[in-house]
Amino acid sequence: MERFVMGFLRAAIVWLVVGTSLGAAIAMIPAWLVYRPVHLHLLLLGFVVMFIAGVAYHVVPRFTAAPLHSNRLAAVHLWVANAGLVLLACGFIARVQHPALAPALLATGGILSASGAYFLAWNLWRTLDGAVVPPSRLPAARPLPVARS
Ligand code: HEM
Ligand code: HEM
Repeated sequence: MERFVMGFLRAAIVWLVVGTSLGAAIAMIPAWLVYRPVHLHLLLLGFVVMFIAGVAYHVVPRFTAAPLHSNRLAAVHLWVANAGLVLLACGFIARVQHPALAPALLATGGILSASGAYFLAWNLWRTLDGAVVPPSRLPAARPLPVARS
């Protein structure tokens, strides 16, 4: 497994723990409902999207029998996505605690988070471009083994 794949899966697990803990805190302390955007982006961008990215970087080259277009871009994506999410979350928190800081944090976090998504999209798209296998080169289908009862 590539290091960046491991990085995405571990980051997703960490965001799952942090995001659900915040969800539990919001459920217990009604005044913390102001942090709902933090909770849902930690879970959706942090857990869901990063887990999908890690699995996709591992699985798509194997599905398609084509190497990933760029391992380096995937490694950059890991850092950009995590830095972006931290800044985005800080921006949502700053909207409540230090409103003057919020626009810059949200804008930087948003641009980095979106850039991460563009890197993933580009890398997978270019990988699929290299994956055209003519039907004549596909392995012949074998009959499935019959289960005995
Ligand atoms: C320990 C588990 C979780 C707890 C205790 C929890 C708790 C909460 C709470 C209290 C809210 C605010 C609801 C309100 O607006 O009144 C909320 C909203 C939300 N949560 Fe969670 N949550 C958990 C897990 C998750 C997970 C795993 C996801 C997604 C992967 C998620 C996605 C969302 C979303 C999208 C919203 C916003 C819903 C809306 O806009 O109305 N939550 N959650
Ligand atoms: C580039 C990445 C992203 C950025 C910069 C971003 C930014 C934002 C912002 C600024 C809001 C408004 C929050 C508010 O004012 O309360 C919002 C809301 C929301 N976002 Fe995102 N988002 C991103 C990605 C995503 C993704 C990937 C998902 C889901 C998979 C998602 C789900 C939502 C939902 C459900 C809401 C509504 C929250 C609510 O009802 O309070 N976002 N997002």
